[in-house]
Amino acid sequence: MDEGVGGEEYLFKIVVIGDSAVGKSNLLSRFARDEFDLHSKATIGVEFQTQVVDIEGKEVKAQVWDTAGQERFRAVTSAYYRGAVGALIVYDISRRTTFDSIKRWLDELNRNKSDLENIRDVSVEEGKRLAEEEGLFFIETSALDSTNVKTAFQIVIRAIY
Ligand code: GTP
Ligand code: MG
Repeated sequence: MDEGVGGEEYLFKIVVIGDSAVGKSNLLSRFARDEFDLHSKATIGVEFQTQVVDIEGKEVKAQVWDTAGQERFRAVTSAYYRGAVGALIVYDISRRTTFDSIKRWLDELNRNKSDLENIRDVSVEEGKRLAEEEGLFFIETSALDSTNVKTAFQIVIRAIY
C-alpha cells in the first residue's frame, strides 16, 4: 500500500491475474464502466486504471492492474506485482486447465514480491547501514512500477527546503 502524501487518500494496488482469455479484462471493464466486449483482444503486458470504490461511505482509491495472461508476457507482468495489497486470481469455469493453473499463479505472486527482488544482490539492511554511516536518507525505488519514486524526490526536496 502506498501511503498518500499531502492529504491524499490511501491508494490500494490490486492485480488481476490468471490464464489468457479467462475474462480478466472484461471483469474489469464491467466493473469500471459497465462494458462487456464479446471480441476483446488479448492484453499486451499490463494496463492499469484507478477506480474509486465506496467502502462504508468512504472513498477508497483502487489502482487495478490488468495483466496479460499469455505466457510470453509472464516476465513483464510479474514485475508489477510489487506493492499489491490484493489480487484477483481468475479462471474460466468452462476450461478446467485455467482452474488447474491457480496454484501456479499463487506461486508466481509469492515469488515476485517486488521488482527485481528475485535477483536482489544488495540487501535493504546494507543500504540502510551505509546511509546511516554517511548520514544520508535511504529509500529503495522502482521506476518500473512507480514504487517510492514520488517519495524519494519529496524527501530530497523537503531536506533542502
Ligand atoms: P488476456 O488479456 O489474454 O489475459 O485475456 P483476459 O483474461 O483479459 O480475457 P478477456 O477479458 O479478453 O476475455 C476473453 C474472452 O472471454 C472474450 O471473448 C470475452 O468476451 C469472453 N468473456 C470474458 N468474460 C466472460 C464472461 O464472464 N462470460 C462469458 N461467457 N464470456 C466472457
Ligand atoms: Mg486481458
